[in-house]
Amino acid sequence: MKITRFIPKVLFGRKHFNDLNRFIGDICPSKKRYAVYIIDSIHQTTGLFERLQPGKNDMVIEFNASSKEPKTSDIDSIRDQIVKQKAAQLPHVVVGIGGGSTMDVAKAVSIMLTNKGSAENYQGWDLVKNKAVTKIAVPTLAGTGAEASRTTVLTGPVKKLGINSDFSIFDGVLMDPDLLETVPAEQEFYTGMDNFIHCVEAMNGSAINAMGKSFAIQAKAAVENFFLKEKNYEELIVSSFFGGSSIANSSVGICHALSYGIAFLLNYRHGIANCIVFNQLEEYYGSDVVTFRKMMDNHGIKLPVNVTADVTAEQFDTMIELAYKLEKDLISALGPDFKNILTPEKIISIYKKM
Ligand SMILES: [Fe+2]
Repeated sequence: MKITRFIPKVLFGRKHFNDLNRFIGDICPSKKRYAVYIIDSIHQTTGLFERLQPGKNDMVIEFNASSKEPKTSDIDSIRDQIVKQKAAQLPHVVVGIGGGSTMDVAKAVSIMLTNKGSAENYQGWDLVKNKAVTKIAVPTLAGTGAEASRTTVLTGPVKKLGINSDFSIFDGVLMDPDLLETVPAEQEFYTGMDNFIHCVEAMNGSAINAMGKSFAIQAKAAVENFFLKEKNYEELIVSSFFGGSSIANSSVGICHALSYGIAFLLNYRHGIANCIVFNQLEEYYGSDVVTFRKMMDNHGIKLPVNVTADVTAEQFDTMIELAYKLEKDLISALGPDFKNILTPEKIISIYKKM
């Protein structure tokens, strides 16, 4: 039996960032402690910091998402900072404002405020014991689907793996398409492709059900429309939400499994790591790889080359190990016999083409 949790409240439309406090009030009507805003540092330059209206007890924490993806140690230290500053009193809400990384930080911090130990102890499936603090997402990048999904991708000391839990799901999402219009073109592309690849993997996997498929079809069409025809930011922000909702009713696949190693060992961001891998997966995802290349050409995107030229045999072993950790996803993509299809030798041969 699989029970799907959806985001209970959504505020959608242009200029609604101005209504953030009212949205928080609607979700947390009786709680009057303090709010924690976790916001991507990039918004020092986009004007969003000035538009935030924190109360005098609220905390605003910057997360520099452009310099790194979130680590379990970042989550632990933000949690410790909040607990110390507020004498262990919990906030009534954690709000994540930014792209996938910042939203993931907000999710993970809300979980780690009510669960003991380090975030690294919860990387995996359904390991979280206690309900998290109420949390709200304000996506300012479209594509990761973090605003709608039940995963919180974190890099730990030994692995890159999500906290996959019903407690990772946001209690509300504020989608203001205006916020997407300041995103640099390359970042817009790579994040948009993360969504496209989620949909392709979901639709080609056996784990999908009719609900996941409906979300994926709609999301994929909107991404293709955006990057091949007409830049419609309203459709793009909805497509990210639908892509994330699709993943809750399907799985990712070969590209995400292989991209974790590229991100973990070679420090590529998730979106670009996916693109580097997906470009080499025509054997598995055929015409969708062709469409992906058309979108790349259309936007003048040049992927890095010789990415794995200096990777050692030992590092390849780690990358293979990381890929195989996404067992459920690889079973969905290739069947229970996946290790005999995507063998270590096969994985290395794909990596060597990048
Ligand atoms: Fe992804």
